[in-house]
Amino acid sequence: MSLLDKIAATLTPPESDEARAEAHRDAKALAADNQWLARVLSQHEDIERLFATALDATSEAVARQAVKDLAVLLSAHSIAEEVALYPVLVMDGHKTHATEAYEEQQMTKVQMAELERLAPLTQEWRDKLEHIRGAVLHHVYREESRFYPEIVREASATDRAILDARFAEEFDRSMGRTPAALQVG
Ligand SMILES: [Fe+2]
Repeated sequence: MSLLDKIAATLTPPESDEARAEAHRDAKALAADNQWLARVLSQHEDIERLFATALDATSEAVARQAVKDLAVLLSAHSIAEEVALYPVLVMDGHKTHATEAYEEQQMTKVQMAELERLAPLTQEWRDKLEHIRGAVLHHVYREESRFYPEIVREASATDRAILDARFAEEFDRSMGRTPAALQVG
């Protein structure tokens, strides 16, 4: 079974809610001196909130809007991580962690594309959404408990400044907020 198949077969995150909450709390403590991590964590909270909004929706319009917002946020967040953060894992010698993170996010993109083709509020749509939520929450747990503390531990002050700037830049661009200097034509 390939890693992508294994991820696809995961329905709920293997970690308990308590373990996930603890990882999030510990990561928040590290974020005090790492602006990039503070932004990552607040985006993780928004992602979790949007999953809840979509799953709690009782009208098709609310469900559709929540999934659309979730897709936009997941896309911008994942691109910023893939461009600004995962390469640092590779450079710091954590290539297997970077590979895991990249592959999980690729799988989520596939699953989100499949979700787009399902009618909101049907059982099939709900199962797919629950499935994606489980995979994303597991991915977030791995980032918060392992990958990002590794980056924080090994980053110099210069690295931190680069990470702060690059993560914000990539996220903002994907969200459609282009820096003024690039607004040409
Ligand atoms: Fe993330």
